[in-house]
Amino acid sequence: MWLRMIATVSVWIITAFPTVAAIEQASFNFSAFNIDTNGSSFYNAPSCLLPNNNLGWNMLKNQDGSFYTHSKRPIILLYDGWDSSMLNAFLTQYILEAMGYRVEVVTRINYVLGIEFYNNAVDLELEIWPQDFGTSFAQVTQIDKAAINLGAIGYNGNIGLYVPSYLFDQYPDWSFDFWRFLLNPEYRSIFPASGTGPRILVNGEPECDGTPGLCMNGTYIPAQCSSANSKCIEMWHYDPGYSSNIYQRLIDGLNLPVTINFLSFGEAQNTIQDAIDRKKAILFYNWTPTSFVANNNFTKVLFPSNNPTQYAAFAKDNSKLLTTDPQSSILQKLASNKFVADFPELQSFATKYQMPDDQINLMLKNMAHNGWSAAEASCDWFKKNQAVWGDWVPDVPKSVVSCPVGTGRYLTGATYSCIACPAGSYNWIGNNTQQCTPCPNEFECPGGATVNVLKVFGCRYLPQRLLFPIFALCMKPAAQIIVVQL
Ligand SMILES: *[C@@H]1O[C@H](CO)[C@@H](O)[C@H](O)[C@H]1NC(C)=O
Ligand SMILES: *[C@@H]1O[C@H](CO)[C@@H](O)[C@H](O)[C@H]1NC(C)=O
Ligand SMILES: *[C@@H]1O[C@H](CO)[C@@H](O)[C@H](O)[C@H]1NC(C)=O
Ligand SMILES: *[C@@H]1O[C@H](CO)[C@@H](O)[C@H](O)[C@H]1NC(C)=O
Ligand SMILES: *[C@@H]1O[C@H](CO)[C@@H](O)[C@H](O)[C@H]1NC(C)=O
Repeated sequence: MWLRMIATVSVWIITAFPTVAAIEQASFNFSAFNIDTNGSSFYNAPSCLLPNNNLGWNMLKNQDGSFYTHSKRPIILLYDGWDSSMLNAFLTQYILEAMGYRVEVVTRINYVLGIEFYNNAVDLELEIWPQDFGTSFAQVTQIDKAAINLGAIGYNGNIGLYVPSYLFDQYPDWSFDFWRFLLNPEYRSIFPASGTGPRILVNGEPECDGTPGLCMNGTYIPAQCSSANSKCIEMWHYDPGYSSNIYQRLIDGLNLPVTINFLSFGEAQNTIQDAIDRKKAILFYNWTPTSFVANNNFTKVLFPSNNPTQYAAFAKDNSKLLTTDPQSSILQKLASNKFVADFPELQSFATKYQMPDDQINLMLKNMAHNGWSAAEASCDWFKKNQAVWGDWVPDVPKSVVSCPVGTGRYLTGATYSCIACPAGSYNWIGNNTQQCTPCPNEFECPGGATVNVLKVFGCRYLPQRLLFPIFALCMKPAAQIIVVQL
């Protein structure tokens, strides 16, 4: 009777006055921060269980008996809508779930970087292509420090223009693998002439429009192709947001008789595949790693080798001409400040997460070859490769009284354990009984025991907190102080 009464009363309370958790949920409007959550369902992969979960984290208890990892707030992972990004997001979901964490997978609405980090709307993004975001990558990570760069994901990204390799069988002497073939009218004649290619409308509108120099009415037409008898050919692209402006400026810079036809993210691959099935001669934009490239015989068209100075100028001003190949992208992992603060025990996991080139390609091939979804391919890899990802998972905390240099003593569940100092903090004390010390102003602490000096200090200026033998030195910016355990 009592129990029943209590239940009735509490239901009434919840209906009449939303609980604190409900208020937080309702007031957090993900879409205002460019995040798509699939309504309230999220984009999580179906669960993928380890046959023998020996990680230990899922059994770790709080003092009140509840499970430590499961009782923390969900971790928000963001993927972008291509295969390799999804494979990594789902793999991370599986690992974190095996550790007992709750995970919510989300995606971006518009392909822009930053707003989600300035507002701590997501925790982790695992495959960031810095060049895609122009100057905003440096703004977000280095200047505003709204996101923490956790280093490279392991494999590189490469964009390029491709032709199907069967063209070499049909025209053995035509050197489609080098950009100069584009200057030969006879070689060009087998490709679709500008304006004759497929026309894709998205909700009745061209894929992009109204941005001279980038895209007008779904196309980019350089000056050399604007006259009726220009004999230009079409290059098929996805969306002007991908590798934004790069091929436009390369077409301008090398005076290529080429126009760009944007086919939209949703339709480009199907359209290209359809032309390949019919053994057509086409020139198209793509990138690696993708299951599309991993599973097809394509040949990349080489441009003069990358000139970094040229691309640095282009990064500042995207009207600057290009004449060389884009550089290979070192793909980065980013975390929000809130993730580092709320999950200090996971920073080493996120930093150590490294997917080798051959392994991401194996998953991508499995998708194309076996007709698997990204969720299925990453589940298969997760079950078979604990020897690889197991090294990323930190040891289950053991109770300790003090911690060595570079680590702090944090409460994880019912036990105190040593956790590597998260970015924004440091520890130089060999028997540290506290959490890591917050990084002082004018210094930068990437984590562990490293402290970078950002400002010139006179010999007398020593922040009280930092009194330490080594600080008897005068310091210059860019000096790096690392203390190792003696
Ligand atoms: C959430 O934000 C979007 C975009 O800013 C806005 O259109 C929408 O009305 C907001 N929803 C709520 C419930 O506030
Ligand atoms: C979005 O949520 C629905 C359930 O509301 C689910 O059936 C669907 O699979 C989800 N979409 C994706 C891409 O995960
Ligand atoms: C846009 O391109 C389409 C297809 O080439 C053409 O029919 C249409 O007239 C163009 N619209 C404008 C505003 O130029
Ligand atoms: C790619 O080329 C190889 C060797 O020429 C061939 O065995 C394979 O079937 C081709 N694959 C596709 C998808 O065309
Ligand atoms: C910590 O180490 C320092 C120097 O090694 C020593 O002076 C101090 O007594 C130690 N403190 C504790 C609590 O062990």
